[in-house]
Amino acid sequence: MIKFPQNFLWGAALSAYQSEGNNVNSDWWQWEKEAGKENSGMASRHYEFYERDFDLAKSLNHNAHRLSIEWSRIEPEEGKFSEQELKHYVDVILALRARNIEPLITLHHFTNPIWFSKSGGWQNRRSAAIFLRYCNFVTRALAKHVRYWVTINEPTIYITHAYVFGVWPPRIKSYIKARMVENNLVSTHIKTYRMIHKIYKELGLAEPSIGIAHYTQVYVPCTQDLKNRVASYLRDKRYNLGFLDKIMRHKTMDFVGINYYTRQSVEVKKWGMGNIAIDVVKNSPNPVKKNSLGWDIYPEGLYEMLLKMGKYRRPIIITENGICTADDNLRWEYIKDHLKNIHLAMEKGVNVAGYLYWSLIDNFEWDKGFGPRFGLIDIDYKTYKRTVRESAIKFGLVCKTGLL
Ligand code: BGC
Repeated sequence: MIKFPQNFLWGAALSAYQSEGNNVNSDWWQWEKEAGKENSGMASRHYEFYERDFDLAKSLNHNAHRLSIEWSRIEPEEGKFSEQELKHYVDVILALRARNIEPLITLHHFTNPIWFSKSGGWQNRRSAAIFLRYCNFVTRALAKHVRYWVTINEPTIYITHAYVFGVWPPRIKSYIKARMVENNLVSTHIKTYRMIHKIYKELGLAEPSIGIAHYTQVYVPCTQDLKNRVASYLRDKRYNLGFLDKIMRHKTMDFVGINYYTRQSVEVKKWGMGNIAIDVVKNSPNPVKKNSLGWDIYPEGLYEMLLKMGKYRRPIIITENGICTADDNLRWEYIKDHLKNIHLAMEKGVNVAGYLYWSLIDNFEWDKGFGPRFGLIDIDYKTYKRTVRESAIKFGLVCKTGLL
């Protein structure tokens, strides 16, 4: 029997665009149409049904919930801020508070207002200043209800998908532009972090806790070949630690938010920058079970990652960890095995403060559409009926007792 600490944060996460529906002013909305992809449409209708969803989270004993604010709702046109949409998010957060669920609020989760993208998006030298204006508007209104902030979700995933592989809007393939965007996101985080702390001071509120939600994965060399080992080492440095090291140099991280799903099997074909950077194999010589998108299930990697992240000497929150699968027993196995590895890391002295499963309800999985089912709660997309999965009930028991 494993025991987690009493004040551990237990819950699940969601993002606005993936769950709310009808985010018509977002660059993703436009992109889905242009790219001929499955449309997010009404998504999971969480914008209307959030109270119902939070009732379920409460019934599953969650004491924390991570959500994001959709920038394009708050500022649909440059400089025009919507009081009505702001009120919506105040209501959402109060609905969590009323259920004794601690909100963790993400300010940027992949999507941008269309006008922002048109003005150059994150390549624009003024992007940080523009984003700060939105954050100022939002945080002043929400400060008294919120303690935890995530400035940016998975900056490295956003950069690689949108500016290196060019598969997400604005569909650019350029290392130079990707580097520019990275620099802008680093400085955006630093400035946002400082601004939010300043606002709390001005308002006489207790210090907030601010971080990012960082995508992490372990890089496993398929063989002991030098190329594979070098590539794994470099990718780990670049993608797991690079962004965090940069923001930590400025002491702008109160907690480390980790999103962890899978491992990457590194098999480099030949010496070459491109090969070292991206060569992988889908089927590793050491096969493991996979989720429905073909990602390897590798819970021991989370243990490794947590030990690595211990170096920042900040509390760590698992801001996302989850599986898309049609096999709900596998979902429970996935959760259980990851929790065991978290606990092992804690026994080694790593300070883990919470675990948020991705995701509370089934939702729109970006360019993969509605196929992948990550939710603790099933959504019937014809009726929008919510059905709690067995795995959610088992996880709910852990949330209640802290025992596994
Ligand atoms: C993202 C989520 C996404 C999930 C599963 C994370 O990379 O933050 O938006 O749905 O992984 O792919």
